[in-house]
Parts: sequence; C-alpha cells; structure tokens
Amino acid sequence: MRLLFLGDIVGRSGRAAVTALLPGLIDRYSLDFVVINGENAAGGFGMTEEIVTDLIDAGADAITTGNHAFDQREALVFAERQPRFLRPANFPAGTPGRGANLYSARNGANVLVCNVMGRVFMDALDDPFAAVDREVSACPLGEQADAIVVDFHAEATSEKQAVAHHLDGRVTLVVGTHTHVPTADHRILAGGTAYQSDAGMCGDYDSVLGMEKDEPVRRFLTKIPSGRFTPAAGAATLCGVAVEIDESTGLALAVAPLSIGGVLEQRLPPFWG
Ligand code: FE2
Repeated sequence: MRLLFLGDIVGRSGRAAVTALLPGLIDRYSLDFVVINGENAAGGFGMTEEIVTDLIDAGADAITTGNHAFDQREALVFAERQPRFLRPANFPAGTPGRGANLYSARNGANVLVCNVMGRVFMDALDDPFAAVDREVSACPLGEQADAIVVDFHAEATSEKQAVAHHLDGRVTLVVGTHTHVPTADHRILAGGTAYQSDAGMCGDYDSVLGMEKDEPVRRFLTKIPSGRFTPAAGAATLCGVAVEIDESTGLALAVAPLSIGGVLEQRLPPFWG
C-alpha cells in the first residue's frame, strides 16, 4: 500500500503546486492514500472551505492543520461538517471539529489519521502524548485500522522524536510538520514505524518559511514591523514523505522524502519505480 504525506501548504503558490501535481502523482504511482497539512494555505493563515474542497478534489483524503487551524473564522463552522478536515486532537474540550478520523483508502484499507500539536515553544495545550494515545488505542493498528498516520505539528525536534518512539510499532507513520523545512532523518524506527522530523512545506522556498522575505528580514534587522507577512509567489516545491506499507501488519516497509518543483533538489521515492 502506498501513502503520501505532503507538508504544510503555504499560500497560492503551494496550492497551485498541489492541484497541478497531485492528481498526476496519484494516477501515475497508484497512490492509495494522501494526507496534506494545509494550515497555511489561505494567504499563509488557515484554510477556507473552498480551499479544503479544492484539495479534496485534487486527491487529499485527509487535511491536517495545527496552530493556524482556525485563523479563517469559517473553519469554526466547516470543521464540524467536513470529516476530511482535522484540527489538533489536544485542543481544548469543546473546540469544533475532530482531531482524528478513520478513512477508506483507494485500495479499501481503513486509515486512521491523527493530528496532534506539540507544546515545546508552542501554546500550552493538553498533553499531546495522552491525546495521541487515546486516539490510537480507540482504533488500534491491525484491528480497526489497517494504517495509522500521525501528523505531529510541533516546533521542537526533541518532542517530535519522543512522540515517534512512544508510538513506535503502534502506528505506520509519525511525521512532523510546522517548521516548513524538510529534515534528512527519514527512517524506519526499531518497531516498524516510519518517521521524519519534518515533511517540509509545499511552498516557495525562495522565502522565509514560505513568506515573502523582505518583511521577515526587516523585522530581524530592526524589530519594527513595517508590513504584513505575505506568502512568496514564486514556484513552489511540493515536499512530503512517501511510505510503502506492509498490508499484513500496517507497518512501514520503506520511507523516502519527495520534493518536486521549485528551487529544492528534485527527489522521488526510489521505491515508486
Ligand atoms: Fe504551524
């Protein structure tokens, strides 16, 4: 079974890359399931319902988020009625929407996707370890779920690695998002869980984290905001992580990064042949 996870979409350039490239990738490489973190898709801040629909039309089976989940106020409403939209599972009780959901893949497999947010150098949310444990034990691998994907939206690589080791052998993939830079540590952990500290972003890398670079550079130089952050408009690199899944166990057989377009090195998973 083939899974693709795409990192944080930033702005129009990231959206354009996803809608232009994803349908062809699904078709050409027979991808069974696609998860996309879309939390910066609407001008860098959150997602509109129209964007969510466009991503689903392009082939996203689940759309994860993070600290920007509700930057667009309409998300408070569509989070309830759109099962493919996830917000972090450890948001306060009563937050609209859901933090995990079970989906049917193109090959008929049941895939649990869980979105959780870290707490190191981030908001003081509920314990992410307890939250992800709750979701995974409610829908265990090999029982209700044939594969489990955890998007751990966090700043600190220590916290990302810790949650991955904590879940090793119980989920298919733990992938970090939020820092917008793909890390070179993709591997299969001892228990069979695929891991990469950060998937990178789908956005223009000639930027500061996907944002047009002049304003962030100015703020570092002067500490005086003199404009808004706006997404960089150059060609995006589609960045993500691909996993080949053992259908008998739901664990990873192979994991590799993917980067297509834009200014980064071009990489396709070798096992996609
Ligand atoms: Fe984020």
